[in-house]
Amino acid sequence: MTRRIAVLAGDGIGPEVTAEAVKVLEATGKQFHFQSALVGGAAYDAVGQPLPPETLELCRNSDAVLLGAVGGPKYDKIQPPSMRPEVGALLPLRRELNLYANVRPAKAMKALLNASPLKSNRGLIDLVVIRELTGGIYFAEPRERRNEGNTAVDTCMYHRHEIERITHRAFAIARQRRNEIVHVDKANVLETSRLWREIVDEIAKANTDVKVTHMLVDNCAMQLIREPSQFDVILTENMFGDIISDEASMITGSLGLLPSASLSDPKDGHVFGLYEPVHGSAPDIAGQGRANPIAAILSGALMLRYSFEDDETATRIETAVEHALEAGLRTADVFEHGCRLVSTSEFGDAVVFKLQAAA
Ligand code: IPM
Ligand code: MG
Repeated sequence: MTRRIAVLAGDGIGPEVTAEAVKVLEATGKQFHFQSALVGGAAYDAVGQPLPPETLELCRNSDAVLLGAVGGPKYDKIQPPSMRPEVGALLPLRRELNLYANVRPAKAMKALLNASPLKSNRGLIDLVVIRELTGGIYFAEPRERRNEGNTAVDTCMYHRHEIERITHRAFAIARQRRNEIVHVDKANVLETSRLWREIVDEIAKANTDVKVTHMLVDNCAMQLIREPSQFDVILTENMFGDIISDEASMITGSLGLLPSASLSDPKDGHVFGLYEPVHGSAPDIAGQGRANPIAAILSGALMLRYSFEDDETATRIETAVEHALEAGLRTADVFEHGCRLVSTSEFGDAVVFKLQAAA
C-alpha cells in the first residue's frame, strides 16, 4: 500500500532537515508518495498567507504530514499577528486537523552521553511528554490588546472533554512503558490546573494499573535537571508541555535530537498525525548545512510507528541513527573531540548507508 505523505518543509532549517527525513524514509524500501506544499513564512512570501487553503487540503487528503519548522525574525513583525507563521500556520494546522495529542519522547542515546549537560551520573533520561496541543492559553478567547494597546489579554481555558481525551491517551502510552504518569500543573495557583487534577484523579481511580502522581511545573523543571530518570510519562497542558519538552530535549544533548508526533483520534483504524522536530526554524544557521537532521529523521520513524503501524521499520531507522552516531559522525551541535564533523546531508547519507547495511 502506498502511503501519501504531505511534506511541509517551511522556513529556516526546515527544508534542509525535512529533505534528510524524506531521504531516509525513501531508503526504507517502503512505498511512499510525497507531495510538498507551502507553509509558514515561505507561504506568506509566495502567496500572502502562512497557511494557504491548498496546503490544508493536501494535509486532509494525506495519510500523514511531515513538517519542518516555521517562523523567523523576518516574519516577527507581520501585522496582524494572526498572519505570523507560528500563530497563522502551526496553530491552525493543529486545530483544524484535531491534533490534540502531542507525543514528545526524550531519550538519551548512548553515543551522545557526553553531549548532555548533566553528563551520565544522574540516571539516563528516557521519558515521553504527552502535551495537550489544541487547548489552553494558545487558543482560548479573548486574546487581544486593549486600552489603546496598553493592556494585553490571553485566556487559558480547558473543557472537561479536552482533558479526558488526552489523559486517556497518556494512560494508553503509559501501559506500553512503566505504567507511571506524572501529571504536571500549577494547581497551587491556576483554576484550569485544579480542573485537570480533578479529572486526572477520576480517571486514575478507574484505572489503578497505572500509578499517577501530580507535580507542580516549577518543581518539575527542577526535578528534570536533578534526576531525569525519575520520569517516564509526563502528562501536561499545552504551554507547560511546550516548555518542559524543550528542557527535556536539551538533557538528551541537543534540541536537534527530539522528534514529535501530533495525533488525532483514530479513524477507521488509522491514526492521522503530523510529525515534526521539537526544535524551531533556527534562522541563524539556516542554509549552511549545519543543522542536525536527527529530530526530523526520527519524526519520520514516529510516523511509521504511530500512523502506519510499522514499528519494525521505525526501529530500523532509530537504530541506523544510533549507528551513524556510534561511527563518530556528528553535526556541529553535538560535536565532540575525536568525532568527525559532518553536514546535515552527510549525516542523512550516513543514516541511509547504515539502514541499507543492516537490511
Ligand atoms: C513547539 C513550538 C511551537 C509551540 C511554536 C513555534 C508556536 O515551540 O512546537 O513546541 O509553542 O507549540
Ligand atoms: Mg516549543
